[in-house]
Amino acid sequence: MDFSREDILAHLDNRALKLISQVADEMQVECYVIGGYVRDFFLFRPSKDIDVVAVGSGVALAENVSKKWGRGAKVSVFKNFGTAQLKYKDFEIEFVGARKESYNRNSRKPIVENGTLEDDQRRRDFTINAMAFCLNAKRFGELVDPFGGLQDLDELIIRTPLDPDITFSDDPLRMMRAVRFASQLGFDIHPETFEAITRNRERIAIVSAERIIDELNKIILSPKPSIGFILLDKTGLLELILPEFTALKGAETKDGVGHKDNFFHTLSVFDTISRKTDNLWLRWAALLHDIGKPLAKRWDPKLGWTFHNHDIIGEKTVSKIFKRLKLPLNEKMRYVQKLVGLHMRPMQLVEDEVTDSAIRRLLFDTGDDIDDLMTLCEADITSKNPEKVRRFLNNFKIVRRKLKDIEEKDRVRNFQPPVDGNEIMQVFGLGQSREVGLLKTAIKDAILDGEIPNEHDAAYRFLLEKAASMGLMPVK
Ligand code: CTP
Repeated sequence: MDFSREDILAHLDNRALKLISQVADEMQVECYVIGGYVRDFFLFRPSKDIDVVAVGSGVALAENVSKKWGRGAKVSVFKNFGTAQLKYKDFEIEFVGARKESYNRNSRKPIVENGTLEDDQRRRDFTINAMAFCLNAKRFGELVDPFGGLQDLDELIIRTPLDPDITFSDDPLRMMRAVRFASQLGFDIHPETFEAITRNRERIAIVSAERIIDELNKIILSPKPSIGFILLDKTGLLELILPEFTALKGAETKDGVGHKDNFFHTLSVFDTISRKTDNLWLRWAALLHDIGKPLAKRWDPKLGWTFHNHDIIGEKTVSKIFKRLKLPLNEKMRYVQKLVGLHMRPMQLVEDEVTDSAIRRLLFDTGDDIDDLMTLCEADITSKNPEKVRRFLNNFKIVRRKLKDIEEKDRVRNFQPPVDGNEIMQVFGLGQSREVGLLKTAIKDAILDGEIPNEHDAAYRFLLEKAASMGLMPVK
């Protein structure tokens, strides 16, 4: 690794760390920066979360730092956890005391004792996260790396400092973290660490859905998320957390007719979309766009393999998955559902004729999410045949142009009918009823089909005619 002492000192050159160093010396306490902030220095990644470990009481150190600082630094103490947090500018500094954890055979509860720096490093997740820079003046900036973290960083390896079975049984979430770091940083998981994940995978069941989803979202947001998903699959974790996704695997053949492997197809769509957007929910939509296929799959002697309604089934499966994984059940979920449910529409539109009416309906159904839907559909073209890809993309270009023209002309993207339910009820002296619903839909359809312009007077005339055909007359 190519770095100098000056680089390290520059990384640690921050008022808060200087003050911590001074206070720790006054208290005669050994103190270090440890974990992600050290790792990210060597990876040239910017980082605002700093973990400080004191060989003694982390809370006492934080309290003394706060006293010395006076106003301008906010310290919060979490006595139960023996931790404290200090906020300085946009840095968040977390203090802990060095700990040694031993496990009582008869109980899963760890016995937490004060320990040395090395005890503390040993019980961290990975060698690359177990390096420390000393903060005490005499050794300021000295790297303490007893488990070869620097070498693993150099060789792009994720490896546990201890026997991986012990590290993972201390906290099974670390199995997902191994995959997350591999995916985020483009590292390999060391074979022994990898085998231990495979062996201990069932223990992921004791981890809360919230912690799992945090790591899964980080994998989804990594530059090439298929790396993480293939690792999750190979270790067997994917089957446990997202069985609907592993069900996409395989390409069955019957009478010499096969279909594509939807698992690898989806991963390819997922990587393509990830090159275009950092929007977590659009990435989720790409991940789940074909999730309805296993349930929709049929063999038809004339048509071959069909996946009719996989979009509708997929939309339902999204809410099942979001509920189970404790993902938000709000507009974020509805957005993913909408994209999954509509992802076949632009393609169907191209295959039929791109009529103004079909374009208006697509705009009405997608609203402001139309651009995201088109991005998803373009990424969905994974054919190996360049001629086919060129043709599809070209067709989508036509669709995009038409969408723009129609939107400029008719403004149906956030369409509000010019005659609404209240007005219909007033005109005909009706309460909320089936008739009002029918009339509303008829007006909407007439506008989307281009029979009448999107204007009040035209819609009102249409309403009177339609109502008359249903035997309804306006009340005076
Ligand atoms: N850590 C651990 N086991 C965990 C979580 C965290 O040993 N299950 C340790 C690691 O040493 C890690 C440090 O605590 O570096 C801080 O954890 P966290 O803030 O979650 O992660 P970072 O490593 O800082 O990485 P990121 O900011 O990307 O989440």
